[in-house]
Amino acid sequence: MKISAIVALFLAFTYFLQRGKLVWGQGLLDERAIFPPRGWNSYDSFCWTISEEEFLQNAELVAQRLLSYGYQYVVVDYLWYRRKVKGAGVDSLGFDVIDEWGRMIPDPERWPSSKGGKGFTEIANRVHNMGLKFGIHVMRGISTQAFNANTPILDITTGKAYEESGRKWYAKDIGMKKFSCQWMRNGFMSVNTKLGAGRAFLRSLYHQYADWGVDFVKNDCVFGDDLNVDEISFVSEVLSEINRPILYSLSPGTSVTPSMARDISSLVNMYRITGDDWDQWPDVAAHFDVTRDFAAANMIGANGLKGKSWPDLDMLPLGWLTDAASNDGPYRQCRLNIDEQKTQITLWSIAKSPLMFGGDLRRLDETTFSLITNPTLLEINSFSSNNKEFPYITGEKYVQFRHYSLASQSENYENRHASVDLFLDLTSCKDRNAKGWSARSNGDDLEQVCWKENSRSEHQTPFCLYKEKLLLESDEQMTFDKNGHGKLHLLATEGTHVCLGASSNRKLTSKEFRRGSFSPCRLEANQMWELNYNGTLTNSYSGLCASMNTVKANAGIGGSRSWLATGRRGEIYLAFFNLNSERTVIATTISDIAKTLPGGNLNNASCTCTELWTGKNFGVVKELISMAVPPHGCALFTLNCY
Ligand SMILES: *[C@@H]1O[C@H](CO)[C@@H](O)[C@H](O)[C@H]1NC(C)=O
Ligand SMILES: *[C@@H]1O[C@H](CO)[C@@H](O)[C@H](O)[C@H]1NC(C)=O
Repeated sequence: MKISAIVALFLAFTYFLQRGKLVWGQGLLDERAIFPPRGWNSYDSFCWTISEEEFLQNAELVAQRLLSYGYQYVVVDYLWYRRKVKGAGVDSLGFDVIDEWGRMIPDPERWPSSKGGKGFTEIANRVHNMGLKFGIHVMRGISTQAFNANTPILDITTGKAYEESGRKWYAKDIGMKKFSCQWMRNGFMSVNTKLGAGRAFLRSLYHQYADWGVDFVKNDCVFGDDLNVDEISFVSEVLSEINRPILYSLSPGTSVTPSMARDISSLVNMYRITGDDWDQWPDVAAHFDVTRDFAAANMIGANGLKGKSWPDLDMLPLGWLTDAASNDGPYRQCRLNIDEQKTQITLWSIAKSPLMFGGDLRRLDETTFSLITNPTLLEINSFSSNNKEFPYITGEKYVQFRHYSLASQSENYENRHASVDLFLDLTSCKDRNAKGWSARSNGDDLEQVCWKENSRSEHQTPFCLYKEKLLLESDEQMTFDKNGHGKLHLLATEGTHVCLGASSNRKLTSKEFRRGSFSPCRLEANQMWELNYNGTLTNSYSGLCASMNTVKANAGIGGSRSWLATGRRGEIYLAFFNLNSERTVIATTISDIAKTLPGGNLNNASCTCTELWTGKNFGVVKELISMAVPPHGCALFTLNCY
């Protein structure tokens, strides 16, 4: 037998051993993220302002109360290197603590144990001694502060400044200002991974994190609208070489589609599939469609970096919280009502999302604690399979008082009409739906780029943008194809200087899907487009392609939804979600479930049925399963069929 076959057998054996033994987290052979990772993240309760003391208090509570439920990672979210002084904020410039090599180091005032060049070493040690794993948030590339200071680059193989072609290399050689993070323009920019010095810089970052004892990195502003496949690929390569099983997590998830995620899922362990999730109902509701699409595309638990990868629905903003972009810690309770909270944790569990709790554990109430430690949900989250949206349901709303009048009817009609809109979607350039752009000339020099103008079925006038050619200096670091198909600015109307951009200037939440927007023209990569010969239109910032879609903008998601999954002991989990704001009776039948489950031999089966949230035992059910579900609420059935 060849060595590789023996290794494969051994791997298979240890895999089954782990499945049977209910081992959380890392496998015996460094197999990463075998189950959706679980933990705590500081963002929802502290924004960026958390201190060492507050972090360790929370970590201690994770160890005492949540670790036995599989919550293992404690993660410091963004800007741990920013000094918390007057004038410092989410997109301020010049308040960060960096070392001589332009790398971020923890603010010594907020993180006293980092003094003397120790970085996060002491924190990681303390966290490990609690039995937990330590995570940090990092941004794309290099900070603007290091770029401006033009710091030299560390070569970790020599411990000295990086030299190549007989010279030293500096931050300004590798930083790409045009690729500034669009939602934190002053903060960070991409580095050029095509340069040895750019790769050396990224390597010096991730090796430092490993030296500190970091077990998890959340890499922000590299995915979604901010996609940066070059950086993700290189960081993944570095992490796979490091002798420490560091999980690799990507953010944000604005405009993410399965075709975009396929390019990176095998390089990482989890990746966001929505914008930021906050404690408001539209954010929760905005997760249903995209999560369904990822499940249908078999992305849940697909191959990942030295293990598996998981579509990430974002942290759970439950309990004691702060606000987005606040410069302060927690001060308020979660604004979702209890039914909405149950819906959120039930969807996150049955879609096998990583579960990262966001509330301040020092004020953890019993209701929140029981939600995030519910044994049925955690069992489903770790061990269920075949997790999919289940379409065969009926939903009858309970509508008690509805006043009809001509006026309100026509108003409704108007609203419905106005809410259907064309909008710009960003998708992988391999996606066939991205084809449909062509150039047309107006007779004068004015050239336009239009979307599917030849499509006969559309009686609307085509959607067109005005072309403005850009002449770029040859010393720019971006390389442009000058064969007639160069990079363009696309103007909203002729003669104006309002350009189409592809990424938002601020962090978006899940309910916001403003994917293309017009703003004053600038020499920024997110406003540069390239028309390809096959009819796709590529954005220079993310490399994604534009397509125009008709959507019901802001219509909100209503109706009834259902999810189905198989348990590891053959039990069946069925969830009903009521996205309406009226009570709704949702129903399905055992025969429809039988049709859907792979290899399910449930014809003429009888099933015992219990429901989680009401505790109701339905006894033996032969066909119909039905329940009145509260507005924005859910039901979760466990079926054992024979
Ligand atoms: C269209 O062409 C671009 C550039 O050559 C390529 O990257 C993309 O995959 C192509 N897309 C399709 C759908 O053919
Ligand atoms: C269910 O069982 C009944 C009685 O045994 C039989 O008549 C019927 O055809 C069965 N239905 C299916 C779908 O197998």
